Amino acid sequence: METGFTFTPNADKSSRYSEFIPQLALLIEDEHEEVSVLANVSAALHECFGWFWTGFYLVRGDQLVLGPFQGSTACYRIRKGRGVCGTAWAEARTQVVPDVEQFPGHIACSSLSRSEIVVPLYDKDGQVCAVLDIDSEHLATFDEVDRHYLEEVCRLVEKNVYHTSQL
Ligand code: SME
Repeated sequence: METGFTFTPNADKSSRYSEFIPQLALLIEDEHEEVSVLANVSAALHECFGWFWTGFYLVRGDQLVLGPFQGSTACYRIRKGRGVCGTAWAEARTQVVPDVEQFPGHIACSSLSRSEIVVPLYDKDGQVCAVLDIDSEHLATFDEVDRHYLEEVCRLVEKNVYHTSQL
């Protein structure tokens, strides 16, 4: 299995995502194990886009628990409605945060994180079962382009991991 991603040099963000997504689909198409797929998706996103922290928190009972990620060590557990991740879960919608210091209750796993996007993933019943959390060391890194394509990434991951009959 070839896991190296290729891109057109100097492509803009939309083009980079457009090239990334079909390659990601190929990377995960034959695997359905949650930890394995989430690990490779976080590695691929992190390597291809160069963010500060890229990973997943998994819904476990009434908390989010740290899942596969790339980047520095992070907090293990987040309660529903707390921080950006817990808010994405509680509201079941993507949170785009241009300045984490302006987000009430933001949980600072690293003081280097300046902006953040959190995208929920849904199980077969439409319930949030995980969130994709991405942090940047720069302000206002994420916008509607990131929201659009990262939601597409999450739809792909859901299909392979949470909507299969193997669960
Ligand atoms: N900042 C997140 C916590 C997780 S770390 O960024 C990895 C939040 O406020 O939910």
